[in-house]
Amino acid sequence: VPLQAHNSFGIVAKARALVRVRSEGDVLEVLADAAQGAAGKFVLGGGSNIVLTGDVKPLVLKVEIMGRRVLEDGPRGVVIEAGAGENWHEFVTWTLDQGHPGLENLALIPGTVGASPVQNVGAYGVELQDRFDSLDAIDLATGRLFTLEAAQCGFGYRDSVFKHAPPRDGHDGAVPLRGMGLAGRALILRVRFRLPKPWKPVLDYLDLQRKVHETGIASPSARQIYDWVCAVRSHKLPDPRVLGNAGSFFKNPTVTPEQCQDIIAREPKIVHYPMPDGTVKLAAGWLIDACGWKGKSVGNAGVYEKQALVLVNRGGATGGEVVTLARAIQTSVYERFGIRLEPEPVVV
Ligand code: EPU
Repeated sequence: VPLQAHNSFGIVAKARALVRVRSEGDVLEVLADAAQGAAGKFVLGGGSNIVLTGDVKPLVLKVEIMGRRVLEDGPRGVVIEAGAGENWHEFVTWTLDQGHPGLENLALIPGTVGASPVQNVGAYGVELQDRFDSLDAIDLATGRLFTLEAAQCGFGYRDSVFKHAPPRDGHDGAVPLRGMGLAGRALILRVRFRLPKPWKPVLDYLDLQRKVHETGIASPSARQIYDWVCAVRSHKLPDPRVLGNAGSFFKNPTVTPEQCQDIIAREPKIVHYPMPDGTVKLAAGWLIDACGWKGKSVGNAGVYEKQALVLVNRGGATGGEVVTLARAIQTSVYERFGIRLEPEPVVV
């Protein structure tokens, strides 16, 4: 089964077998099947945060569980549930159409609802964990259904329990277990979001501040912020339907204030943000740009002209070329700044 249409990088690769799952029942059926149940499994959402470096041998479960509904509409907030297969941006748009603000800063992020907790998607001052309530998932090893609250998801910057491998000894106990990674083990079925009332706009991010000044709109509506975020993103980030990519390819690294002072002494223009926990976040895009990578290519994989943090497929790139380019960037950033950049998408 060709996977080119199932990954936003547009990399050519195949899956030995792919099953579309549209319900919890479909998943249980796969697990109960003698051959499919025993096979290794790879859960695929929108494919917008993966780099395929070859054919995928495990059985691909393409999650197409749909549905969205308001579960609770109280004085302190609204709880909304969506199927893991729903397109993220369409879901965000729908919540605003229903009169429930809160997700507007996360507009236009590619991918599905089910993938959003996996990397704790975030943009323009809001992270998924700020709006997350809980999720339902199936343990692919046992077929058991379980629910996770926010505290059990281990959310961090572009991180969660779903990105960490389970313990090697092949635990067969009920999930979730404290401190246990769930990568490859859990298939997310539904996600619930809690949108607080009263709604408060989040406008701290520089790009949004700029919009406030440009337009003179000091108290924008959620719809206005949604429009601004869409405009900023379409200006800075390539549309994966036009130019294959997986968004930011590296995480923004954090350093201690001492390390930062050290670097500033050498590189006065470095873009840095003090974090609430005392560390300092550096803009990976700036570091890569400073090393002269913007617009460069290795084979058919390239660095986006308008934003050095985004690697793109210029047509026919292999996963190997993307990984080679990424390594070359890591090396030059390390040599110049002494900072190790960590990739953001999952390399398969
Ligand atoms: N910069 C450069 N050169 C570049 C790119 C960036 O100098 O080529 C500078 C910019 O001028 C700016 C700073 O670096 O001062 C930060 O850039 P930007 O505001 O574009 O944000 P970012 O750090 O590149 C992060 C997220 C994005 C998210 C935006 C907005 C990560 C890894 N990336 O990007 O998330 O949309 O902030 O919140 O945290 C993603 O994860 O896929 C993603 C797109």
